Amino acid sequence: MTDENGVTQRLSDAEVYSFALLLPHAGSGTTWKQMGITLAALLARPDLLAAVRDDRSLLRPVIEETLRWMPTDPMFTRWVTRDIDFHGTHLPAGSVLHLCLGAANRDPNRWDRPDEFDITRPPRASFAFGGGAHICLGMHVARAEIATGVGALLDRLPNLRLDPDADAPRFIGLYERGVTELPVVFG
Ligand code: HEM
Repeated sequence: MTDENGVTQRLSDAEVYSFALLLPHAGSGTTWKQMGITLAALLARPDLLAAVRDDRSLLRPVIEETLRWMPTDPMFTRWVTRDIDFHGTHLPAGSVLHLCLGAANRDPNRWDRPDEFDITRPPRASFAFGGGAHICLGMHVARAEIATGVGALLDRLPNLRLDPDADAPRFIGLYERGVTELPVVFG
């Protein structure tokens, strides 16, 4: 890669190795947890579930709204590399910041009725995949995996629904958020 000064930079073996380790970690737990959250959101809304069964083009807005409403990575950390004043707060170099991306996804200045799950919202970017230089490298793969996985489940289990005798699934965790369990019946 050539940087802004015209100097060609090459990744060292250690950087290639650490990136190869990062990819499966960043791409696995995130995607299956977000898929579970998407299923939980659908199963809790039988009318929407029926609509998605009939019209698979609705899966895309369902996935986007789930990412906004309940992202699996609502928190991310940043390492402060130099002393800085940020909106009136002094952040000394070496601090670790825990940023709540999930709060931005429910900012009432950006989203109407932010706590409501509503797939008819006009399309707008959320922070589910981060933003800027370190935005998620796998976001399109993740969307495709969730659409394929949820679509396959609906194809194979046409009567899939929440188990009426079990407790409703709960969402837990600030890092790698997900559903506790998803009790279903499909007979
Ligand atoms: C629904 C699933 C996923 C979610 C919610 C998600 C979320 C995120 C978020 C919020 C970041 C930003 C981290 C930061 O700002 O420091 C990120 C970065 C990253 N993601 Fe994902 N991700 C998902 C799936 C994937 C997949 C499938 C892959 C790879 C196949 C992947 C690879 C990466 C990598 C390599 C980075 C680091 C990018 C960088 O630092 O430049 N992610 N992801």
